[in-house]
Amino acid sequence: MSDEADIRAHPDGGSGSDGESGSGLPGAARTPGAGTVTRAVVVGTGHYLPERVVTNAEFTERLDTSHDWIVSRSGIERRHFAAPGEATSHMAAHAARAALGDAGLGAESLDAIIVATSTPDLTFPAVATMVQAELGLKTGFAFDVQAVCAGFIYALAQAQALIVAGTARRIMVIGAETFSRILDHDDRGTAVLFGDGAGALILEAQPGQGGSADRGILAVDLNADGSQRDILYVDGGVATTGSAGCLRMQGKEVFRHAVEKLAQTAQTAIARAGLAPAQIDWVVPHQANLRIIRATAQKLGVPMERVITTVADHGNTSAASIPLALSVAARQGRFAPGQVIVAEAIGGGLAWGAVVLRW
Ligand code: UT7
Repeated sequence: MSDEADIRAHPDGGSGSDGESGSGLPGAARTPGAGTVTRAVVVGTGHYLPERVVTNAEFTERLDTSHDWIVSRSGIERRHFAAPGEATSHMAAHAARAALGDAGLGAESLDAIIVATSTPDLTFPAVATMVQAELGLKTGFAFDVQAVCAGFIYALAQAQALIVAGTARRIMVIGAETFSRILDHDDRGTAVLFGDGAGALILEAQPGQGGSADRGILAVDLNADGSQRDILYVDGGVATTGSAGCLRMQGKEVFRHAVEKLAQTAQTAIARAGLAPAQIDWVVPHQANLRIIRATAQKLGVPMERVITTVADHGNTSAASIPLALSVAARQGRFAPGQVIVAEAIGGGLAWGAVVLRW
């Protein structure tokens, strides 16, 4: 745990954007007088998967599909579906408690909760406020981020900016989804691909030196292109149909964008962190499709032994997929302190991005 007295917020609420911090890196704000910068460092992880496991065999009973097609096209073998009555906030709260346990922290030590989700319990209030209540907290602030499958990357970027600006010192960042509730279960092209679950990270302000050797988030790259909204969307909503709607996807088109844009955003974030791809210890990609994960790793020149994959067991859990993969891999003891991790994701919007962090 950091020495709290050593950490001082930037007096201007500095965003830590390129150059202005004087650190030379975008993920840090120079702390006047102390000779250090503030970094957002991961101090705990946790996850939750609903009890019910849905195998590919379940789909073959009622859809024109096969286990071999699903595995060969996507790498997915099974996924979890939430139980009736089990909602996104319940899964998010489970993951949050696991992360607090991992960090050895009490909920009262959190300044903020951010939940990345496209499948909130209700249109409002935010799932993050429901998690706050579940944790018995009445202090701090809580809000949701909606950037579909890139949601957790966007949420990490918001959390890091709040920490670097000095607005919050310790933030619970959660990705949680109940995609089984927005699937057209008769559409074989999408029904077999998605699952439910939640993952959480706790980010904490700690002092760093401002270089790429620091622990914590070193760089972020975020992108969106709303002109591509029709290739992956949900056909309902509050202001249009008044109902939740179902997910619609032109899989091949999304695939094409994914391979190109994921490698690009990862490369941008790695360069922004002052690192080269050869210095990356682990890639933690959005778990949508094993073929996309392999093609992106190849473009980055990172061997598959250094890529975390959970897609076979979880399917595509949208904003939950990266924190789930991070938490599962951390539980397996795969990350050593000081190793560099790149997380990248793309989804509806299109919205995509990457985060580089030192564990
Ligand atoms: O998380 C957000 C980002 N989402 C993604 O990254 C998903 C990106 N896309 C993909 O993962 C892949 O495009 C899919 C897994 C969705 C599909 O793989 P594909 O190799 O692109 O297949 P396709 O869409 O070209 O479909 C090939 C054939 C089609 O039949 P025809 O038209 O060639 O006769 C489909 O109708 O496979 C058919 N098909 C299926 N067949 C058996 C589609 N779904 C199924 C299915 N079982 N479940």
